[in-house]
Amino acid sequence: MIYEGKAVTVKPLEDGIVELNFDLEGESVNKFNRQTVEELGAAAAAMKADGSIKGMIVTSAKSVFIVGADITEFGELFTSSEEEIAGWCLKSNQAFNAIEDLPFPTVTAMNGIALGGGLEMCLATDFRVMSTAAQCGLPEVKLGLFPGFGGTVRMPRVVGVDNAVEWVAAGGQHKPAKALKDGVVDAVVEPDKLRDAALSLVKDCIAGKIDYKAKRQEKLEPLKLPPMENMMAFQTCSAMVMQQAGRNYPAPIAAVQVMQQHAGMTRDKALEIEAKGFAKVATTTVANAMIGLFLNDQVLKKVASKWEKKAKPVGQAAVLGAGIMGGGIAYQSASKGTPIVMKDIADAALDLGMSEATKLLAKQVSRGKVDAAKMGKVLSAIRPTLNYGDFGGVDIVVEAVVENVKIKQSVLADVEKQVKDGTILASNTSTISITKLAEALEKPENFVGMHFFNPVHMMPLVEVIRGEKSSDEAVATTVAYAKKMGKTPVVVNDCPGFLVNRVLFPYFGGFGMMLRDGADFQKVDKVMERFGWPMGPAYLMDVVGIDTGVHAAEVMAEGFPERMQYDHKDASEVMFENKRFGQKNGVGFYKYEVDKKGKPKKVVDQTTYDLIKPVVAAPKEFEDQEIIDRLMIPMCLELVRCLEENIVSSVADADMALIMGIGFPPFRGGALKYIDSIGVKAFVELCDKYADLGPLYAPTAKLRDMAANGESFYK
Ligand SMILES: NC(=O)c1ccc[n+]([C@@H]2O[C@H](COP(=O)([O-])OP(=O)(O)OC[C@H]3O[C@@H](n4cnc5c(N)ncnc54)[C@H](O)[C@@H]3O)[C@@H](O)[C@H]2O)c1
Repeated sequence: MIYEGKAVTVKPLEDGIVELNFDLEGESVNKFNRQTVEELGAAAAAMKADGSIKGMIVTSAKSVFIVGADITEFGELFTSSEEEIAGWCLKSNQAFNAIEDLPFPTVTAMNGIALGGGLEMCLATDFRVMSTAAQCGLPEVKLGLFPGFGGTVRMPRVVGVDNAVEWVAAGGQHKPAKALKDGVVDAVVEPDKLRDAALSLVKDCIAGKIDYKAKRQEKLEPLKLPPMENMMAFQTCSAMVMQQAGRNYPAPIAAVQVMQQHAGMTRDKALEIEAKGFAKVATTTVANAMIGLFLNDQVLKKVASKWEKKAKPVGQAAVLGAGIMGGGIAYQSASKGTPIVMKDIADAALDLGMSEATKLLAKQVSRGKVDAAKMGKVLSAIRPTLNYGDFGGVDIVVEAVVENVKIKQSVLADVEKQVKDGTILASNTSTISITKLAEALEKPENFVGMHFFNPVHMMPLVEVIRGEKSSDEAVATTVAYAKKMGKTPVVVNDCPGFLVNRVLFPYFGGFGMMLRDGADFQKVDKVMERFGWPMGPAYLMDVVGIDTGVHAAEVMAEGFPERMQYDHKDASEVMFENKRFGQKNGVGFYKYEVDKKGKPKKVVDQTTYDLIKPVVAAPKEFEDQEIIDRLMIPMCLELVRCLEENIVSSVADADMALIMGIGFPPFRGGALKYIDSIGVKAFVELCDKYADLGPLYAPTAKLRDMAANGESFYK
């Protein structure tokens, strides 16, 4: 054994060739934590000192190659100064450089996923052979970062500027064919041939059949293109990257700038530029938020898998109601492998539900994502029916009939009589208390809320709502079913609006007050879209449906009269009274026309201003920041209340639910992260500045304590 560590070992093979193997002790995957990087450097030093080695192959003992850096170490690291972070990069780079500088040819055998630091490791060797089962990429921009282990330096020198910009700035994960075409790898082979292919390549190098030194030299020198052409290439790419990433995501553009800056430098100088640039992006609030999201997602996955262990298997599902939601739920369940019975009281509704599913599948077929056989299989897994005949064999029933307490209670009581003993009943209600619906049932312990978002196939979140009497098993089975449907479940306790709508409506409340005070709804929409929302509040209400919104607002006002009952008439109520329901009937705050592609296009409608005139003040200009504060504060505070009241059980659940359920700007990391980024103390002061606007702007006593004690939501 030439080197033996806890993550890296080097052992001799035949003919002076050695194998450097990654196998991180006690973990299911390889990743670059501090220890692995240190061991890599030590292994390189041991090989250099050996003197008898002729060549090296790099392998992994896990099913992945290396999944990237250990992101759990980032939190602490990135709170240090830019100098310290840059120093960490340069120190880590010594290990990669030492591998690159070994006095013999080196080949990586990429057996599985090689991402971020994992791919940067591969780039440090002379050649790369990739298994057909592997994938690779540099996804750092998805964390608000860019590669910091030499990726921005080696990539353009190996694959050229255009390809490097695409791989680094778009952060995609690529299949072998693309990696080969772009020159990221030198060969692609079947998994069982990988090791031999790597060995034979290194032997060819040793035999002098391949000039590995020339190949290596390209990585050590400035980029080959003449300066003028280089500049042109970077400028074209910059404009494109800027357009794709948008102003809220600074990392991709910073990566291109760094690559341009060090294009004319030798490796070691270029690495210094990369390290400095990396330290800059690593300390941005965007990187902090995006890394936080990644870690939150891990928390959610762990919580869900704990629930899954207590779940009963779901082999057959049913949905009541074949409307917008029921149809979507049936499609999603069937396409992810759980057959489903879809019951409605109207034949026409069943036809509509089936035709929606067919449309969604046809689209996927035309995009080449599924084939005709799979389409047929999915469609035959949805069984439309007008009666309860098939309900005896069903494990879970999702109720998605009209939003009316009496109807829902009677439908649930009916279906309870049709199903077997342990069948779980779940309601997709958006507003009605789960505890209240449970009153109609003999076995309320088998009943929970399962709140999907529209459109079901696109929205990742499912709120699983625990009523007073819901059993652990009912919650667990619903969580597991949501996961099986490809969704991310978040378990919340019962209250009006549950979690997501409970925090959304105070935001609409803030919006209503802005209009009351003379703000222009179009300006508010623009400001909030620039803030990062996929659509501004007026547009969002139009898409949700003004009738749905007004109804839900009434439920919220009844549930939280002290905060959500307003003494002014809201502009949305005026829209409702004038039957302007939004996108669904072609007119709401905006008017909707159909564009050439058949999609609704929103246009300005002067009538809106005329109609709301009696309920709003004379037009007034507001600063962008005031608009942002007046809308965001009520949402943030309501989320704080939900956390304090244990409606949601963790900071991670709370923030992720907003991002996945209503498109809260991901680069801001969620509402609690947003408060943290302002600082709890400064946020409380901001709330107090708007105290005149009423109780929606009143911080809780606990939040004031947090401010006084210098605490934050995230440690
Ligand atoms: N549309 C949304 O954006 C959205 C989002 C989340 C939750 N929800 C909730 O989902 C539920 C359904 O909403 P939707 O938008 O799909 O409504 P919808 O009006 O499109 O569909 C309701 C369907 O239920 C059927 N139905 C009525 N009584 C029935 C019964 N006794 N048995 C079987 N079917 C019956 C109707 O024929 C209709 O097809 C509501 O509770 C709603 O609040 C809706």
